[in-house]
Amino acid sequence: MSSTVIYLSYLVAAVLFILGIKNLTKPRTAVLGNRLSSIGMLIAVVVTLLDQNILSYEWIIAGLVLGGGIGAFMARTVQMTSMPQMVAMLNGFGGGASLFVALANVWDPVASAGIVADLSIGITILIGAVTLSGSFVAFAKLQELISGKPISVPGNTLLNGALVLVGLALIALSVTNPGETGYIYALVAVAVLLGLVLVLPIGGADMPVVIALLNSYSGIAAATAGFISGNTVLIISGSLVGASGLILTQIMCKAMNRSLPNVLFGVMAEGGETIDADEIYAGKVTASSPDEVGMMLETAERVIIVPGYGLAMAQAQHAVRELATVLEARGCDVKYAIHPVAGRMPGHMNVLLAEAEVPYEQLVEMDEINPQFEQADMAIVIGANDVTNPMAREDKGSPIYGMPILNVDKAKTVVVVKRSLSPGFAGLPNPLFAKDNALMLFGDGKKAIVDLTASLKEAEAA
Ligand code: TAP
Repeated sequence: MSSTVIYLSYLVAAVLFILGIKNLTKPRTAVLGNRLSSIGMLIAVVVTLLDQNILSYEWIIAGLVLGGGIGAFMARTVQMTSMPQMVAMLNGFGGGASLFVALANVWDPVASAGIVADLSIGITILIGAVTLSGSFVAFAKLQELISGKPISVPGNTLLNGALVLVGLALIALSVTNPGETGYIYALVAVAVLLGLVLVLPIGGADMPVVIALLNSYSGIAAATAGFISGNTVLIISGSLVGASGLILTQIMCKAMNRSLPNVLFGVMAEGGETIDADEIYAGKVTASSPDEVGMMLETAERVIIVPGYGLAMAQAQHAVRELATVLEARGCDVKYAIHPVAGRMPGHMNVLLAEAEVPYEQLVEMDEINPQFEQADMAIVIGANDVTNPMAREDKGSPIYGMPILNVDKAKTVVVVKRSLSPGFAGLPNPLFAKDNALMLFGDGKKAIVDLTASLKEAEAA
């Protein structure tokens, strides 16, 4: 294969990756983004294998069919609620693949040896093995193969620091003593251990942030693996994954009002224990009924639906879509407010609502929808709690103070659909429920919305 064809193919693949990531930033174009990136990866893989003459066509095709088949089967059968652990596993495979690329170059060097290649081998092994073992701990926690609770490792912070230093020393020794494979194997062992002690102390609830971080590590490992063999497309794709994983980690930390060190060292904000729920709610919570809310909706012109984790638990997405359809048929403007960490994984609400075929243009991100609550006749909060908690805005002593929230309380009326006054993920009472303009519609999310839609339809028929 001529080098011009190879470089042009790599260029096309790199452009497809960048376009893919760009398209993935919007729900409407996300599927296209996924396809573009997959085509880019197919081009990159096939051209690399043909170029390097590593394998015969038969092996390439067999690998494509087997790997593609397993991937397609997993993607088709995975439950939406099991998506985080599947992503964790795929990150682990990514880190593992880079680890083996580096080890293959130790066992049977194909690239010209040199300081860059030797250093890249060491760094790839360190990051790849951390990603591999860390991701499988994250998978095991989320799959409940081991406890999701933080598993404390004595002297955790010191141990982490010591393992990083030993890992760096082993990289230096392997570079200065090429051919001494003992340092390489010791590095693998230290890095695997580091992955374990990094992730074991983190609670299951913080796993999505950790998974985004491990995703970033898998990209960095791929990029450094690209330096071993001088493969530009691997360097580009790895860097893109590394950078986007870091950006996602940052967005999630900000939206959860946690710092990355707090997530990594299992520190939750303090102050929540002293807040008395009874004092906040006593005599101030107004319960309502589907009929009453239905009557109010008859005259509503603007409604904002606010989905949260409870919508996923109740599987109420289709019921919500049906309610919106009935409202729209009456001339009401309906939008959905999407908080970046509503639910339990990035994009959780987008995926659920897409499943019910809610039009993408009705999904509005937090910064854009917040100024619109003041004009809304009603905000209907379904199974969301923390992401609507006004303490984050008003109560400096609260552990979630500063967390960006959806300003649902600014709507003329807020209807909160949930089963009880129980707290959400952060374990805090929510003063929203006691506000003068708030009505509680107690019940399972799906049943409450089905009943509400029925009463609205009845009113229409009458
Ligand atoms: P939460 O604050 O966790 O509240 C969910 C509410 O849903 C609960 O208060 C619960 O109240 C209600 N619920 C549960 N099952 C229900 C059902 N069948 N029908 C109706 N309601 C039901 O949810 P949120 O507002 O979406 O906030 C997400 C939280 O998770 C944030 O604190 C966020 O930081 C955290 N978190 C998010 C992520 C990502 S990436 N999204 C990752 C980790 C942690 P009842 O029991 O009274 O019904």
